[in-house]
Amino acid sequence: MKYLVTGGAGFIGSAAVRHLVKAGHHVLNIDKLTYAGDPRTIAEIANAPGYTFLRADIADAEAMGRAFMDFAPDVVLHLAAESHVDRSIDGPGAFIDTNIRGTFVLLDAALQYWKSLPPETRENFRFLTVSTDEVYGSLGASGSFSETTPYQPNSPYAASKASADHLTRAWCETFDLPTIITNCSNNYGPFQNAEKFLPTIIRNALIDQPIPIYGRGENVRDWLYVDDHVSALITIAERGKVGEKYNVGGNAEVSNLDLANTICAILDEMRPRADGKPYAEQLRFTKDRPGHDFRYAIDATKIKADLGWEPSLTFSQGMRKMVKWYLDNQSWWREGAENIKRLGLGDEKQ
Ligand SMILES: NC(=O)c1ccc[n+]([C@@H]2O[C@H](COP(=O)([O-])OP(=O)(O)OC[C@H]3O[C@@H](n4cnc5c(N)ncnc54)[C@H](O)[C@@H]3O)[C@@H](O)[C@H]2O)c1
Repeated sequence: MKYLVTGGAGFIGSAAVRHLVKAGHHVLNIDKLTYAGDPRTIAEIANAPGYTFLRADIADAEAMGRAFMDFAPDVVLHLAAESHVDRSIDGPGAFIDTNIRGTFVLLDAALQYWKSLPPETRENFRFLTVSTDEVYGSLGASGSFSETTPYQPNSPYAASKASADHLTRAWCETFDLPTIITNCSNNYGPFQNAEKFLPTIIRNALIDQPIPIYGRGENVRDWLYVDDHVSALITIAERGKVGEKYNVGGNAEVSNLDLANTICAILDEMRPRADGKPYAEQLRFTKDRPGHDFRYAIDATKIKADLGWEPSLTFSQGMRKMVKWYLDNQSWWREGAENIKRLGLGDEKQ
């Protein structure tokens, strides 16, 4: 199969690219290499046969048009995005450009390409927009998001992703482009950008800095190991129904404070502090994120019932695997660690 992956030098995209290339697929990886894209994520497959990297902006219509026609993909996994909620508070413009306009440009390029295909090839083409559970807004103490939960995005990031989902759906309804939308919960695993919450916990623990916990750490998220997200995306690309949405989750709802404590406890065991004290002593409550959604929870019944997909790792297996990777790959997060600042307090100039 020929997979066109956007954002394949980022956290989730690179996990998808590594997996697809190793499985013998042809892959065109389109990535602009923003602050979040890093060639180290794909170094191990960079010279593999059947793999091509194109440094380009998904909002560049000419480059996207050419990429589709030249590569002739069977499947598009669209992951390129501005993805950091805190950054979307400080500077929403890039989120509009990439997540909304970029998705439009990509859908349009896909449509022109798809129309040029013979009917049997057309039928098998798939365009997956990889989205987030954040489009659904925030939950109270109970309930969960299903595929029919109305969209109520709260952050500029979530609103831009919701727009991309709506465009994706419209291109299917109006133009018959075979699209599918996936809405996944929080991912964790190797090569996550050092700014994000989990790498920050591990980094600050190991460099003996305060570990910041927004608010009182009561916000709840569902967590999924990144390779399980990739297996869900491939399952959906292969067997998902055109025009549908699929929620993807890890059956692992945890508060931010419990999550940080879990990671600290794993570090206590795998890499005890020199003074023998628990890493949890470094946890510090800090000013909350403006508009911080209280709780996300995914009802992933549909993907299990219709496609038989379930996560392969439990929360505790995944967390241990992730912590071990960050311990074994310290250059990933040590480089530039001193320049990482708290973002998204809403008081930056745009
Ligand atoms: N990380 C999560 O927990 C999570 C959960 C659910 C859904 N998602 C979605 O999955 C996708 C990937 O998330 P991630 O965490 O891997 O993000 P990431 O920030 O790690 O990677 C994004 C990648 O997209 C590239 N990119 C950004 N703008 C681009 C542009 N204009 N043109 C081409 N490339 C561009 C970046 O260089 C980077 O390599 C996003 O669409 C995100 O909304 C993420």
